[in-house]
Amino acid sequence: MSGLRIDILTLFPELFESMQTVSLLGQALRDGRMEIGVHNIRDFATGRHRVVDDTPYGGGDGMVLKCEPVVAAIESVRRPGGRVLVLSPRGRRLDQAVVQELSGESQLVLVCGRYAGFDERVLEHTGAEELSIGDYVLSGGEAAAWVVSEAVSRLVPGVLGNPDSARCDSFSGGLLEHPVYTRPPEFQGRQVPEELMTGNHAEIARFRRAQSIRITAARRPDLMARFEAELAERRDAEAERDRAVLSEVLDAKDRGDGTRSC
Ligand code: ADE
Repeated sequence: MSGLRIDILTLFPELFESMQTVSLLGQALRDGRMEIGVHNIRDFATGRHRVVDDTPYGGGDGMVLKCEPVVAAIESVRRPGGRVLVLSPRGRRLDQAVVQELSGESQLVLVCGRYAGFDERVLEHTGAEELSIGDYVLSGGEAAAWVVSEAVSRLVPGVLGNPDSARCDSFSGGLLEHPVYTRPPEFQGRQVPEELMTGNHAEIARFRRAQSIRITAARRPDLMARFEAELAERRDAEAERDRAVLSEVLDAKDRGDGTRSC
């Protein structure tokens, strides 16, 4: 039984060919854990020339994607309960919490725009939501749809070989991921931290958690502020250790330590 179906509507379906064959996503599709359909919006346009765009009312640059083919495409693939998302820099911004939310849906319809965007009535008529992958502008929604598909599919049960991988990902616990190392133990004079060589799993977990806190504090004050607020409420044993690491980090900052804390 398939857990999630993603339908991608695009004017460039060929861009998604390799997405469906390689890597974890390809394997999940072959195993039937997910389904992906890629559909050409132009197939839903009528007339001899299958026109999908037109000039904007009121003037302005670029062409606007027309209501009729886009709405017809959405209506042809949407299933009961399906969630329709138009990729757009104007949308709600994607983060791991949104990814988590989307991974619980039965169907996502990802609509990729090009040119100056969609006629606004596409959104009004279909109730589609707008989703952005970040505050920058792409030439079209295809790369964004790929990002959403890959991020969401990792959370579909059974897609990742080891479900712990998703649990330890950056952001999933509000912290960035700790650094990782593999052989050789020394590279150009740089050693793998000895804490990782002990074979003591509890000690390794504590070391990695401390690294995560340090790296998050150094790079992401926004995530750190949330982490500190949550930490103030926590009473578990890990919280005590987290507080100790945090106070070291803050002391180092107060001293203006030039040393990198991660
Ligand atoms: N299309 C163009 N830019 C985009 C962005 N930042 N996110 C999603 N879709 C887009």
